[in-house]
Amino acid sequence: MGEGVVLISGATGLVGRRLVPRLAERYALVRTLSRSGGVVRDRIEPASWDGVDPGAAALGGVDAVVHLAGEPVFGGLPTQARLARIRESRIASTRRIVERMAALDPAARPKTFVCASAVGYYGDRGEERLDEQSAPGEGFLAEVCREWEREARGAESLGVRVVSLRIGVVLAREGGALALMRIPFSLGLGGRLGDGRQFFPWIHVEDLVAATLFAIENAALSGAVNAVAPQAVRNLELTETLARVLRRPAKLPAPAFALRAALGRVAGELLGSRQVVPAKLVEAGFDFVHPTLEGALREACA
Ligand SMILES: NC(=O)c1ccc[n+]([C@@H]2O[C@H](COP(=O)([O-])OP(=O)(O)OC[C@H]3O[C@@H](n4cnc5c(N)ncnc54)[C@H](OP(=O)(O)O)[C@@H]3O)[C@@H](O)[C@H]2O)c1
Repeated sequence: MGEGVVLISGATGLVGRRLVPRLAERYALVRTLSRSGGVVRDRIEPASWDGVDPGAAALGGVDAVVHLAGEPVFGGLPTQARLARIRESRIASTRRIVERMAALDPAARPKTFVCASAVGYYGDRGEERLDEQSAPGEGFLAEVCREWEREARGAESLGVRVVSLRIGVVLAREGGALALMRIPFSLGLGGRLGDGRQFFPWIHVEDLVAATLFAIENAALSGAVNAVAPQAVRNLELTETLARVLRRPAKLPAPAFALRAALGRVAGELLGSRQVVPAKLVEAGFDFVHPTLEGALREACA
């Protein structure tokens, strides 16, 4: 066990639930921010918040902050109210966390701020290869990510090292996108989305957890960091690989117009193409446990 205190929001989420025990193995104390409190466990101290303002006490004595909380993007129909929640739960909370850091004595500020972002930053980019230097894209989620990262960067002027993880679709046994993707296959209705040529940026949850720990501990890493696996796949390859792993047919394509009708402004997240490469993680020497899609799906679907 190491020294130090880590504050984490979104601790009850898909990624947070895997990350918290790993943090507790490495740090003296992990303070978890949740809207519903939580249970005290060995080296884990729950703290309540309203989803926006962590309060002054939560930041006390903290060495690193990991901010993962946010209204789920695919958690229901994209009504105006939900789109506003997707945006505000990320941007307003990040701004407030940075304000709370600014209010601390400089010597008492956290050294590191790791804030989630998403590959949605890049919009829909066809065949372009996207590393961290690539320009942002257009669309609702691209704008949310751009503002989210801008708020996080506000901590840099306070002497805090900031890493914005541009996270790809997280593949995990316990839920998230993979649970949704498995439903049509289990009904024998699996198939590519649209024309299937769009690149699908993904990462196995264990690699995302390891990349987050790497970001906290690797002082050379800062700014935007693509958190995706090194193997870029197209939707068609994703569909065929998932069908093979699940031993199910992949015959019925889901037409783009039907997806747009069902998902509205977030359809671009599934239909858009993003060939994202983890340039900074690779350059920094990060080792992926699940670098190939087939291996990642075999673990997550076992
Ligand atoms: N999973 C993916 O495929 C993926 C891909 C790209 C980016 N990301 C980003 O990575 C982060 C973590 O992802 P995740 O999949 O672990 O998220 P998640 O499972 O959806 O959960 C995140 C946590 O956010 C909190 N939350 C939910 N709605 C909220 C709201 N309206 N206001 C404030 N807090 C709210 C909840 O915690 P409490 O109920 O305990 O408060 C929840 O446990 C998110 O910011 C997400 O946008 C995820």
